[in-house]
Amino acid sequence: MKPINVGLLGIGTVGGGTFTVLKRNEEEITRRAGRPIRITTVADKNLALAREVAGDDVRLTDDAFSVVTDPEIDIVIELIGGYGVARELVLKAIENGKHVVTANKALLAVHGNEIFAAAQEKGVMVAFEAAVAGGIPIIKALREGLSANRIQWLAGIINGTTNFILSEMRDRGLPFAEVLKEAQALGYAEADPTFDIEGVDAAHKATIMSAIAFGIPMQFDKAHIEGITKLESIDISYAEQLGYRIKLLGIAKKRDDGVELRVHPTLIPEKRLIANVEGPMNAVLVQGDAVGATLYYGKGAGAEPTASAVIADLVDVTRLHTADPEHRVPHLAFQPDQVQDLSV
Ligand code: HSE
Repeated sequence: MKPINVGLLGIGTVGGGTFTVLKRNEEEITRRAGRPIRITTVADKNLALAREVAGDDVRLTDDAFSVVTDPEIDIVIELIGGYGVARELVLKAIENGKHVVTANKALLAVHGNEIFAAAQEKGVMVAFEAAVAGGIPIIKALREGLSANRIQWLAGIINGTTNFILSEMRDRGLPFAEVLKEAQALGYAEADPTFDIEGVDAAHKATIMSAIAFGIPMQFDKAHIEGITKLESIDISYAEQLGYRIKLLGIAKKRDDGVELRVHPTLIPEKRLIANVEGPMNAVLVQGDAVGATLYYGKGAGAEPTASAVIADLVDVTRLHTADPEHRVPHLAFQPDQVQDLSV
């Protein structure tokens, strides 16, 4: 089977996780994709780190533009982050007919309309499961699993750093600044943690989810955004005495006159499932008119949870969008001889 060739831009935590999971689960991933997926090229400024993570069988370069223009590359994974060079690289990859897989929520929330228009014109996919809620397949749930529904609203804990801070302030009574340092040391926070604590990261993710749920363009600039920096331990303990937990929620709600998009600390009765989502975990509630309320829970950040979403997109793009029909696999790609007969 002809492998699909992938170029990876940026080999930080998630890039490393992507290599680990691709290798460990190669058999399952190949079966589901219908052909082997190979990262053939890695671009990173830190070539020594890239060598350490990617090994010797991969071409290494510090020139990311050489990857997005390489005729041998079928899919580009963008894990650089930010709005600047990442935008240029993604647009260049699309221009060169590459499918793109990205975890970059900031890029999509702010420049997504331009990027998706370019991809549509060129007939390539931009897949972004890893951009929202890490390993939770919330994009696929909204786009595929709930596609029969009119989505009425969605609300979620979609920033692990702030949920960790609020949980630790409540459980250990530690001051905000101290827990933020811990969240940074544990690798939950963004490079610029003000994006986490001021609610910007959650607003990026809510913007992306609302676009899919309600069929609207990305409208990050219309979101109301309030983070957790004004909260003190005393607010959290008063809430607790009254039977509530404080959570930073990203909320998108359909109204007669449009869609309401907001991020802010919210009091939630402690008996609710979502009130008990602790630490760096994420959870998203989605209300559809046919299905009712559904809840998605899991790790919203970290190397392997995010790699899980990146690779799911690689598999999808390979299975559904790479040109060669002979490599398309049916949705149920199983091996019959491995199914045990329990009928006796
Ligand atoms: N800083 C983000 C968070 C990382 O804390 O959720 C995952 O998007």
